[in-house]
Amino acid sequence: MRQAGRVLPEYRELKTKHTFVEMVKSPELAAEVTLQPIRRFDFDAAIIFSDILVIPEALGQPYEFNEGAGIKMTTLKTAADIDRLDGSAVEERLDHVPQALRLVRKTLQDRTALIGFTGAPWTLASFMFDGGGTGEHAHLKRMFYTDRPLFDRLMRKLTDAISRYLLMQIEAGVDAVQIFDSRGGMMSDGTFAEASGKWIGEIIRSLKGRVPAIVFSKGTNGNWNDLAATGAQMIGVDWTVRLSEVRARLPKNVGVQGNLDPFVLTTTPAVVAAETERLLRDMRGVPGHIFNLGHGVPPNAALENIQMMMDTIRSFV
Ligand code: CP3
Repeated sequence: MRQAGRVLPEYRELKTKHTFVEMVKSPELAAEVTLQPIRRFDFDAAIIFSDILVIPEALGQPYEFNEGAGIKMTTLKTAADIDRLDGSAVEERLDHVPQALRLVRKTLQDRTALIGFTGAPWTLASFMFDGGGTGEHAHLKRMFYTDRPLFDRLMRKLTDAISRYLLMQIEAGVDAVQIFDSRGGMMSDGTFAEASGKWIGEIIRSLKGRVPAIVFSKGTNGNWNDLAATGAQMIGVDWTVRLSEVRARLPKNVGVQGNLDPFVLTTTPAVVAAETERLLRDMRGVPGHIFNLGHGVPPNAALENIQMMMDTIRSFV
């Protein structure tokens, strides 16, 4: 999940000198931001500092991140916009990511796992049509229901670019890759597999098992079978379901992570300790569990709460 960002004073300090996109594109700065949360909290895994929106950018659709205003991008509108997307230079345009990964790996050695990531085709398509907004996503949903050949053309481009991008990250030495389908829950339980799951499955198959794949899909609690069918080794779970019940419904060789409501990190250390313990008790003795949040660290989380979460996990018996 997102662990860097505004919550860290050392990140905010860098942001006074560089824009978000500058930091993503500079291997040295991206490596530094990746390491900041590890230095402070000694998490078991680092996730490379980048963004899911580097894929639209590599296909010819740039984005910006503005303080206060969030994500801004010129959105796709027509079939011609989709046909203009050009995946031929993905490796070249995203070369800064493997460079950053190699720098991080050099510092972390084998002490801390390193995770590469991407957005899922469906979630990326949603940003490409609707930008940062979270309205009813009418444009993309309408295309899915009424013009499947065009929808499939867009998904094919995204799936190919993403597969190549993850292979680049694997070549650069990541221990696992995570596919974020943060907007998977926009679809009904009956359409998720066609709109999103099958494309994620294609991507995972293209990796040929070289590293484990984690799929985080938010709000898709009616789709455990579809998620398992992607071939993911780990499923990231939001905080609206009981993790032990999800675990019990999945095949034995699929693990689970996530599930702590990130909001608790904005409350008090006592609440954090209680909620962390509740989750750990629920999963006591259950194999295939990695502790994680149900979504990214909120920008207004308190550092002492993150520390309390870590202390509670590490001292749990
Ligand atoms: O530790 C890390 O930060 C890992 C790197 C990472 C970022 N984004 C950096 C980032 C990861 C894994 C992501 C994934 C990402 N980006 C997702 C999927 C996961 C999720 O949270 O749902 C999505 C949907 C995006 C797109 C995106 N990027 C949005 C919607 C925003 C704005 C959110 C906001 O806080 O307004 C971003 C910005 C972003 N990406 C930040 C970071 C650290 C915040 C920038 C900042 O705080 O300066």
